[in-house]
Amino acid sequence: MPRNVIDVTDLTVDEINQLIAVAEDMIASPAKYQNACVHKQLATLFFEPSTRTRLSFESAMLALGGSVLGFSEAASSSTAKGETVGDTVHTVSCYADIIAMRHPKEGAPYAAAQFSEVPIINAGDGGHNHPTQTLTDLLTIHREKGRLDGFTIGFCGDLKFGRTVHSLVNALSRYENIRFILISPTELKLPRYVKEEALKKQNIPYQQTDSLDAVMPELDILYMTRVQKERFFNEEDYLRLKDSYILTPEKLENAKSGLSILHPLPRVNEIAVSVDRDPRAAYWKQVKNGKFIRMALILKLLDIHV
Ligand code: NCD
Repeated sequence: MPRNVIDVTDLTVDEINQLIAVAEDMIASPAKYQNACVHKQLATLFFEPSTRTRLSFESAMLALGGSVLGFSEAASSSTAKGETVGDTVHTVSCYADIIAMRHPKEGAPYAAAQFSEVPIINAGDGGHNHPTQTLTDLLTIHREKGRLDGFTIGFCGDLKFGRTVHSLVNALSRYENIRFILISPTELKLPRYVKEEALKKQNIPYQQTDSLDAVMPELDILYMTRVQKERFFNEEDYLRLKDSYILTPEKLENAKSGLSILHPLPRVNEIAVSVDRDPRAAYWKQVKNGKFIRMALILKLLDIHV
């Protein structure tokens, strides 16, 4: 049975810390890894739009000396002819050594993995999970703060449909002494199942609020998110909620000087471009980190040691 990463908890905390250490080494000495995956192939099966996740996976495999194949929309695959996800993945696993898959349906990568002969990585499934964005976020927090424990993190925006939030809350609930502040409109609160599984089960204290301004001075990390238009059932609700939070330089005036601002991107309107110049903005560094942590993950799942 190949090793898959469908949920962030498919990796132990020790394994995640190890991936971060390898990614740090890759950032310091990329040449050491440039032939690690020669003759290996990564397939990217993207049934949903993507810029960073797909291209960082491909860039990661190319930087390891491997090659890439795949598709970036369902319409150009046999899905358009009615093929099941299981059969598509079974087919691709005959060609590729490892598969990264994104799908609009929650659970699709898990179901597909039952038909694969090679490791499957969930690159985002509907409004559910996004474990490799979480690894990217953890590497970024580690590089910004020098540790993965003992801080207050505010998640702001669409906590209901934001899959990156669900996976990161899950991952951070396994580290010590983290305070969670969940900032959203009532309609976009963190789903109950995430609270139950990640926070309540372990008695982790958390606070829910709709005011970013009120909690800004307390935050060590601010994780901004986009309101997930494609997951709404009606446009009216989206239009009403889309600009609930817009981070501007003025809003940051009462934030800590050591704050780190993260965002999985794409941003729509929730962070003003003028914030990019603030030294606390870490989201463009986060984009770069995404490539290195995916390099580390590919090596791990292919069981390649450098
Ligand atoms: C996120 C996603 O696809 O869930 N993007 C990403 O992978 N970096 C966030 C989003 O789309 O809002």
